[in-house]
Amino acid sequence: MSLQQVDYGIREDGEPLPLFVRPKDDNSKQFLQRWLDNNKEWLEQKLLEHGAVMFRGFDIRCAADFEAAVRRVQPELSDEYRGTSPRRLIPGTEAVFSASELPGYYPIAQHIEMSQLPAPPRKVMFCCLDPPTSFGGETSLCDFRKVYRDLDPEVRSKFQEKGVMYVKNYTRNGKKWSIDPTMLKGWEELFGTTDKTVVDEECRKSNIDITWKDNDAVKLVNREAAIQYHPETNEPVWFNHVQVFHLTMLKDELYRFSHRSKSFFFLLLSYLMAIINWLAMTVVRHTEFGFYTFYGDGTEVTASELRSIGDTIWKNMVFNRWEMGDILMIDNFSTSHGRQPYSGKRKVVVCWSPPCQKPKAYRQ
Ligand SMILES: [Fe+2]
Repeated sequence: MSLQQVDYGIREDGEPLPLFVRPKDDNSKQFLQRWLDNNKEWLEQKLLEHGAVMFRGFDIRCAADFEAAVRRVQPELSDEYRGTSPRRLIPGTEAVFSASELPGYYPIAQHIEMSQLPAPPRKVMFCCLDPPTSFGGETSLCDFRKVYRDLDPEVRSKFQEKGVMYVKNYTRNGKKWSIDPTMLKGWEELFGTTDKTVVDEECRKSNIDITWKDNDAVKLVNREAAIQYHPETNEPVWFNHVQVFHLTMLKDELYRFSHRSKSFFFLLLSYLMAIINWLAMTVVRHTEFGFYTFYGDGTEVTASELRSIGDTIWKNMVFNRWEMGDILMIDNFSTSHGRQPYSGKRKVVVCWSPPCQKPKAYRQ
């Protein structure tokens, strides 16, 4: 089963992210599985080079087809998820989840999956089972090695030196409604348990400071390096969630998307979010609900520093419209993903490899 049996190449505009692999004669799921069996090393090499590989045009119709294909190159999948998106297991699979149950208008900023934790998954895989019909809805990609290189050197070296501090307040506790605009789910859903001693132990293992508060709310604080070496290529990578978990993320992402989509609705939504941010930061104790980020020493990241990070990421972002049955494999230690807002239907599912301890942090 040789490489000649598929077509592969990059986008017409020369963008190397992702590499596309398409069938030549046989597009069956059985062919894809056999082809993956025989070309694992080639695929690993291409993931290192391009950051992501998209399998397009194969006959993948359901989450079980996706899982079977992925297991040929990634036999072990994880169901351990400590990110912020509410997710649900897809019936008929052991480790495929809905990518996010957050509403379509909610933008998911570019992030390396679980980079805020000591052991993120080495790879993340997505599959489209119902392409969006509205504008947006892409799983946008961004090479965070490029972001590292393109960032303002002053901002970059500050983060290199200080790292990032993450503050998260879980107040929902199973309630459907909450005033938290960041829509953090409850801690029971985050940890998959209602047992506080289990949560305490998990936090201890992940170097997270935990404070239980009134009404069963909980505050989690942890510090991580902002930049990591890639475990195989040794390249420095912008490796953090600083702009994702900052309270201003929603207004910034909505504003940027309103420009991209030329949508007045999203522009209005971004202004509404700006007012909520202003109220949160001037009237109430904003670090006591939702999420917030600081430099690792507890000092504020300024608005202009956040803008500079956002500009660098958006300059390097790549948008590919989903097609039915697309499988996207991502090197989670070099390349970020996000979700552009959309309306109407869209079904994208996800699975990921087991936790992988971060290699040493990058310092100059
Ligand atoms: Fe994600």
